[in-house]
Amino acid sequence: MTDSLITAARNAQARAYAPYSKFRVGAALEAADGTVFLGCNVENASYGLTICAERAAVCAAVSAGVKRFRRAVVVSDVDPPAAPCGACRQVLAEFGLDLPIEGVGSKRTLTWRLSDLLPVAFGPEQLR
Ligand code: THU
Repeated sequence: MTDSLITAARNAQARAYAPYSKFRVGAALEAADGTVFLGCNVENASYGLTICAERAAVCAAVSAGVKRFRRAVVVSDVDPPAAPCGACRQVLAEFGLDLPIEGVGSKRTLTWRLSDLLPVAFGPEQLR
């Protein structure tokens, strides 16, 4: 069975702008209502300004007024599959630690829960 969220993330990965690392990443975020938001990594000649695929997807969703997510997929071409970097974990955590994240690599798919990837998280509740 083909998984349309994974296909969408692969399509986003094909649009990655990664001329420096050549490490192409695609992300797909499925909103609570089923809408899908995509992101790819966007590198920059000033390397530190690189934007990861996951954060690009979060920005696309929030820009469309969507902040509730039920599933995330991150695709890369490595094995084991890449998990979101620390910065992306923190940005995703802003919108819920229950999020299941599937890492799809060249061979395997692994699934994590964001709360396991970012234990003892700092979040919005600390500021209330
Ligand atoms: N990258 C992502 O897009 N997401 C991650 O979670 C890890 C890293 C990108 C950033 C950079 O363009 C390339 O992968 C290598 O670090």
